[in-house]
Amino acid sequence: MMTKSSIYITRKLPEEVIEPYRKLFHIRMWEREDVPVPRDLLIKEVKDADGLFCLLTEKIDQEVLEHASHLKIVANMAVGYDNIDVKAAAKLGITVTNTPDVLTETTADLAFALLMTTARRMMEASDYIKADHWQYWSPLLLAGSDIHHKTIGIVGMGRIGTAIARRASGFGMDILYHNRSRHPRAEEQLHAVYADFDTILGKSDFVVSVIPLTKETERMFDQQAFEKMKQSGIFINVSRGGVVDECALYKALVKKEIRAAGLDVFEKEPIRKDHPLLQLENVVCLPHIGSASVETRMEMARLCLENIRNVLNGEEPMTPV
Ligand code: DGY
Repeated sequence: MMTKSSIYITRKLPEEVIEPYRKLFHIRMWEREDVPVPRDLLIKEVKDADGLFCLLTEKIDQEVLEHASHLKIVANMAVGYDNIDVKAAAKLGITVTNTPDVLTETTADLAFALLMTTARRMMEASDYIKADHWQYWSPLLLAGSDIHHKTIGIVGMGRIGTAIARRASGFGMDILYHNRSRHPRAEEQLHAVYADFDTILGKSDFVVSVIPLTKETERMFDQQAFEKMKQSGIFINVSRGGVVDECALYKALVKKEIRAAGLDVFEKEPIRKDHPLLQLENVVCLPHIGSASVETRMEMARLCLENIRNVLNGEEPMTPV
């Protein structure tokens, strides 16, 4: 009788996602849903795993990979994979997969929600009522800025960037984008206009970061970048905190070089309560929930398991990085 391959899953997942795979694999799983697996346990567990299902909270580096002598696939439950040393994995012949497509629309929804919340000062307005400050309707009470017919500058025109552009198009916005390569379809169908980074910064009312974190993009939103933005400009980040110099962002907000920021991601996650950015009224912060709808998270988990199944069956993964 053939022995089943072994999978290690670094976070407790709902049984309904795992169940169909139990007959195929020997599945071990970290017991907590809310806390990441301790690194020493991960290193121990990965030793005899054929497949690893991990999250962006785990750093899958050379050390982890070298302990994994049977490992054939690392399936990351995220579209971003800056937590994985992909080069080291390739050298060891280990396939790395991510979860594109299934989270595109959900993440674009969140990006647009963050843009709208920040522009129209919705968190401030909600806090205002809850603090019982509302006495009278007033002409400029909590007045924010318009979204419709303004200019959005999308930095990173991949799948999510394009989905954000579609939403912007529905709001009658002018769309600028910056990307490694041109996007003819977005130019044709959404009238998106390619621009260099500085033009995006200077001309956009909303600058939206959807760019992956790499050596090249690390802290690309720095002091100079914020200085180039409009004073009325709003900065939105739904990609990775590492693309922003948070200290420079804080200073730009305090000095009123830009009007507001909406952030779903941070340099160090979780961001703590005493972080300077969290003290500002014109900053809306979310705990990295871009893809967090139940439907999408379940799809992401399923896609990871399908990738693992394919690779362990000797087939091509659906979404290799
Ligand atoms: C990703 O997929 O990279 C997100 O940041 C988490 O959904």
